[in-house]
Amino acid sequence: MNNQSELLQFALDISKEAGKIQQSYFGNISSVSTKSNNIDLLTIADTESENLIISKIKETYPTHSIISEETNNIINDSQYTWIIDPLDGTTNFIHNLPIFAVSIALKKIDKIVCGVVYNPAADKCFYAESGKGAFLNDKSIHPSNSNSLLDCLLATGFPYLHDKKYDLSFSIFKEFYDRTRGVRRLGAAALDLCFVAMGRFDGFYEFNLNSWDICAGSLIAHEAGCKVSDWNGDSLPHDGSRILCTNGKIHSVMIDILSKEKYSIFY
Ligand code: IPD
Ligand code: CA
Ligand code: CA
Repeated sequence: MNNQSELLQFALDISKEAGKIQQSYFGNISSVSTKSNNIDLLTIADTESENLIISKIKETYPTHSIISEETNNIINDSQYTWIIDPLDGTTNFIHNLPIFAVSIALKKIDKIVCGVVYNPAADKCFYAESGKGAFLNDKSIHPSNSNSLLDCLLATGFPYLHDKKYDLSFSIFKEFYDRTRGVRRLGAAALDLCFVAMGRFDGFYEFNLNSWDICAGSLIAHEAGCKVSDWNGDSLPHDGSRILCTNGKIHSVMIDILSKEKYSIFY
């Protein structure tokens, strides 16, 4: 029988191993390839990290399904699915910014049961299991207490695809920028979520992400005590199409902006 803690330990172990691969290439990338367009990038660190994670899962849990960013889905007849971003923050990684991570989540049927986000450059490991709280390097983490947008620092991100939604997203960005202390764009969604979980940011919103960007981080944030939802307050779409994660106290005021009729194109 599978035991959640064993599964979490496994996820922690493979995250650390993948992090070592990332670190071995950090500052040392000589060639970069492109994916959907010329700003959607891929390096040897993405693929080697992914190969390591997938081979360990296949070896240890051969019946489990796997969804991972850089390869085709492996769908088995199992209750368990691993959802993996082998390197979140590839553009930062290529430009020698130490804001990147490995993100590994495990879904049981339709519920995320464990999540690990490991930032090897700072040796910061965020993790959570459903119902057991969230941790950073073994210390319990919690969101901020700010309840007025004016006192808040937010985070967001923008997709590689520059379409109509992308254009309109700058209007949302301006609304939040005008009403807060600022809105940061760090370039690694999994870490943005963990930084809300630990109170560095008070809120994070983004659209057009994928399941591998958000599944681990959103469980970590939820377990830390954050509120995580769709932009209109509905339950979080695990496909990453829209996400709002806050300390809970500013959730409804952020929803008031994100659910405006003029932003209906996002739904
Ligand atoms: C990206 C990062 C970034 C977000 C992009 C993602 P990648 O992931 O999470 O913060 O804004 O939309 O695609 O490509 O570095 O794994
Ligand atoms: Ca990503
Ligand atoms: Ca990635």
